[in-house]
Amino acid sequence: MKVLIVGGGAREHCIVAALARDGAELFCAMKNRNPGLARLSKDVCYVSETDVPKVVEYARSKGIGMAVIGPEAPLEKGIVDELAKAGIHSVGPTKSCARLETSKSFTRGLLEKYKIPGNPKHSVFRSPDGLREFIAELGEYVIKDEGLAGGKGVRLSGEHLISIDDGVKYAEECISKSGAVVVEEKFVGEEFSVQCLCDGRTIAGSPLAQDHKRAYEGDRGPNTGGMGSYSDANHLLPFLGQKEYDDAIAITQKVCDALRKECDEPYKGVMYGGFIATKDGIRLIEYNARYADPEVMNVLPLLESSVLELFEAVIDGKLKPCMGRYARKATVCKYVVPKGYGVKSEAGASIAVDERGIEKAGALLYYASVNEAGGKVLTTTSRSLAIVGISDTIGSAEKICEDGLRHVKGDVFVRHDIGTRSAIERKGVRMAALKRDKP
Ligand code: GLY
Repeated sequence: MKVLIVGGGAREHCIVAALARDGAELFCAMKNRNPGLARLSKDVCYVSETDVPKVVEYARSKGIGMAVIGPEAPLEKGIVDELAKAGIHSVGPTKSCARLETSKSFTRGLLEKYKIPGNPKHSVFRSPDGLREFIAELGEYVIKDEGLAGGKGVRLSGEHLISIDDGVKYAEECISKSGAVVVEEKFVGEEFSVQCLCDGRTIAGSPLAQDHKRAYEGDRGPNTGGMGSYSDANHLLPFLGQKEYDDAIAITQKVCDALRKECDEPYKGVMYGGFIATKDGIRLIEYNARYADPEVMNVLPLLESSVLELFEAVIDGKLKPCMGRYARKATVCKYVVPKGYGVKSEAGASIAVDERGIEKAGALLYYASVNEAGGKVLTTTSRSLAIVGISDTIGSAEKICEDGLRHVKGDVFVRHDIGTRSAIERKGVRMAALKRDKP
């Protein structure tokens, strides 16, 4: 099977590593020079991932049988529709189905129309009329840019937006930029990620994981694409039980069914739900139409069954809810990022990566947005590489991850608190307090 991966980050490196274990013949379309992806691929096309005509032409010229779309931007450009016209099937939704991620108002409206639980109180504004009144009525609120904003379109009251004026100003900016803005109720709780494969009728879940969006230790500082993540050996999370997992899966199944009706075509790809556990149960923050980054690195390395078989089942409409056998292990993933990441990244810095040392430490290495040039690994403005530890407990996985990180040197930054005992305990305490204080 000739498989094309679109994207040049650690998420894509991780997907390709899983496909390589299955013996797939791999091709890659990416804009940066990711050395991990290049090494595992038979051939690479260095191209902007949103240049759909060029990617389709490349896929056609190489006789690609299956494409796996890593990031959301090419989905928004309709890459899956265009590949299908060339007879190439994709793991990734069509442009219409990808609205699940590319349009915030679409997803809120979908849940409302099909009476699917998990929606917050919300309103969509296409002009400033009524904006101030709705923000004031909510008290604590979230403002979401309607369109894709690379994880930077969401601002929260009390954190990024201090006054009602701040909220109105940001919402107006979103309207001018994207034509609409979603204003919604703010929840208090712990966020978690549910990554499901979907063939248009059936969904298959995977272990839960939790990302860390803030740049600095103790969940402080600016929002980022995600600084690291962890998962537990029982595939739940230390602050979250089976009921919350089942509720998230039930919501995702309903969303899959609603999308089929609404878009008149099946959603084929990954449905990654960002949920929050609150004192009143789980709520939906957002859906994404792709694997989560970094959380895919908590999931795919644990897959003991064939990823190719899973992807073929997605394309052929033969997925079963129980498909995908994941090892009962805990994982901790930490991103190495350029200095200044989240504010103003220092691109072009050299990172010394001792791959043998990382391997000897028992950790996994996934390269992200770096460029290999003249034998050096150079940073860009995005995340550089990820190190993953896998073990029986979160504690021992965290130690393996840190042992691996010792073999990465340079002017870089890492959130070392991710997966540590004290950080995990704090989450448990916060969740227990929320439930205890429930009126
Ligand atoms: N975990 C953040 C993202 O993938 O968008």
